Amino acid sequence: MSFISELKKRRTFAIISHPDAGKTTLTEKLLLFGGAIQTAGAVKSNKIKKTATSDFMEIEKQRGISVATSVMTFEYGGRKINILDTPGHKDFAEDTYRTLTAVDSVILVIDCVKGVEEQTERLMEVCRMRDTPVIVFVNKMDREGKDPFDLLDELEQKLSIKVRPITWPVNMGSDFKGVYHLLENRMNYFKVNKTKLEDDVKEIALDSPELDASVGVKDAAQLREDVEMIETIYDDFKEADYLAGSIAPVFFGSAVNSFGIKELLDSFCNISPEPISRNTSVRLVEPTENKFTGFVFKIHANIDPRHRDRIAFLRICSGKFERGKFYKHVRLGKDVRFSNPYMFMADSKNVVDEGFPGDVVGLYDTGNFKIGDTLTEGELMFFTGIPSFSPELFREVINTDPLKSKQLEKGVSQLAEEGVAQLFTMQPGNRKIIGTVGELQFEVIQHRLLHEYGASCRFESKPYSKACWITSKDSEKLNEFMRLKSNFIALDKDDNPVFLAETDWILRMNKENNPEVEFHTTSEFN
Ligand code: G4P
Repeated sequence: MSFISELKKRRTFAIISHPDAGKTTLTEKLLLFGGAIQTAGAVKSNKIKKTATSDFMEIEKQRGISVATSVMTFEYGGRKINILDTPGHKDFAEDTYRTLTAVDSVILVIDCVKGVEEQTERLMEVCRMRDTPVIVFVNKMDREGKDPFDLLDELEQKLSIKVRPITWPVNMGSDFKGVYHLLENRMNYFKVNKTKLEDDVKEIALDSPELDASVGVKDAAQLREDVEMIETIYDDFKEADYLAGSIAPVFFGSAVNSFGIKELLDSFCNISPEPISRNTSVRLVEPTENKFTGFVFKIHANIDPRHRDRIAFLRICSGKFERGKFYKHVRLGKDVRFSNPYMFMADSKNVVDEGFPGDVVGLYDTGNFKIGDTLTEGELMFFTGIPSFSPELFREVINTDPLKSKQLEKGVSQLAEEGVAQLFTMQPGNRKIIGTVGELQFEVIQHRLLHEYGASCRFESKPYSKACWITSKDSEKLNEFMRLKSNFIALDKDDNPVFLAETDWILRMNKENNPEVEFHTTSEFN
C-alpha cells in the first residue's frame, strides 16, 4: 500500500468523559466491533474508583496491561483506528490534556441521566483551544434520563459548542424503543443485549404505518413531532463544520447493551478527520510530507520493575517512521535510533518495522525523553501546542533521608519529565515545589519515589493557588519584577520563570501594578 493510502486510512482519536459516563464500556464495545477483542471484559478499566492510592497501586501492578491499553488499534470499515486512552480520574487530568494534543478528533461520552458534568467541561475547553472535531455519544438511554432536547441545550450552553443530532431516541428508560437515524431514515430497535453485537435495523420512512406498528402509535407520533422540531431548530449537518470543530454531531445509545455503537462507529469512519497538519516552532507540518516528524506526548516509567526503562509514546506527524533508522532528537541535538519500537493492540504489544502519520509508537527510553520532545530527520523545530497548565495544589518536597538526597533529586526530576506533576525550583536553596491538580498525585509521587528511587520525603503545603508563566518585551523590567518578587518566583522544568500567586486578588494586583509584565496561565504563548 502506498504511503498516501496508509496515511488516509488512519483515524486517531480519544474518548473523553466524566468518570462513570461509560468511556471504558464504549471503548470495549468499539474494540469488539473492530474484532480486536473477542469477549467483553477484556479491557481493564484504568479508572481509579475512589480517591485511594491503593487503587492506583493496584493499577501500577498491572502496568503491563495499562501500558498496552494506552493505545488501542484495530481495523474497521477500511480504516486503521487508533484509540488513545485517557485516565478517567480528575487528579490525572493533565495526562488527558496532553493526550488530546496527539489526537485528530474526540468522542465525548455523556451520561443521559447526569448530563454535562464538571470534568467534561474542562476537557472540552482543551478541545476548543485546538478546534478538535468532536462527536457526542449520549449513553445509558436504557435509563430514565433528561429530556433529549434539554440535554442538547445543556451541551450547547455548558460546552459552548453547537450540536446537531444524527440519531434520535424513541422514548427512554424501560420504554426505550431504539434510535431513528435522521439522515438515513432507518430505525434501530433496542434490545437489552450485553454480549451480542447484532443490530436490529430497518429502513423505514417517518410517515410509514410500519413505524406505528413497531414502536407504538404514541412513540411514533412523538418521534414525528421531535423530528419536525429538530428540522426547525437545527441547521442541516455539514461535515465541514464538524471538521472545523464548530458543530458536534450527536448520537444516542447504550454502550453496555452494545446499542447505537455501530451507527457511531460507521459515522466516525465516514466523517472523522484523517491525520491533520500540526504546528511547529518554525512552520506547519503536513502529514503528507516525505520526511518523518513526531513528538512525545506521554511517558510511562518502569514497565519492568527490574529496570529503569521507560516507554515514550510518540505520535507520528509526517513521513514514515522506520525501525533502526537514525532520527534527530531536536532538544538534545543528537541522533537516536530505536531497534524495538512497539505498537499496541488491545491486549498486546508488537515490535513494528514502520509507522505512518496518525500512528503512535512506543519507544524504549533510558531517560532521553521529556514530554513534548520532537524527533525529525534533521530539521531543527519542535511541535507546539503541548502546554502545561497552571497546577492547583503546591507543596515543597522535604527530604527525610539525607543519605538519599541524590536519589530524591533524580526521582523528582524524572517524575516531572514523565508529566506525573509539575516541578518548580525556587531560590535560595534549590527548593523543589511540586504542583498538581489533585491530592492523589502527591501520594503517587511519594510512593514511587520510595519504591522506584529508594528516596523518602514529605510534603509541606505552600499557600500558592496559581502558577503564571511571565514574560516581558522589556527584559530589564522582567528582571526587576523577578528581583522584587523573588519569594514568589520559581523556574519550571525548562527554566522558564513562573510567578506563584497566593490568591486571584494578589495576581490581579500584580498584573495591574506591572503592566509591562505579561502573565500567562499556560506554558505556551505567542
Ligand atoms: P467510565 O470508564 O466512563 O468511568 O465508565 P464505565 O464504562 O466504567 O461505566 C460506568 C458504569 O456505567 C458501569 O457500571 C457500566 O456498566 C455502566 N454503563 C455503561 N454503559 C451503560 C449503559 O448504556 N446503560 C447503563 N444502565 N449502564 C451503563 P458499574 O456498576 O460502575 O460497573 P460494572 O460493575 O457494571 O462494570
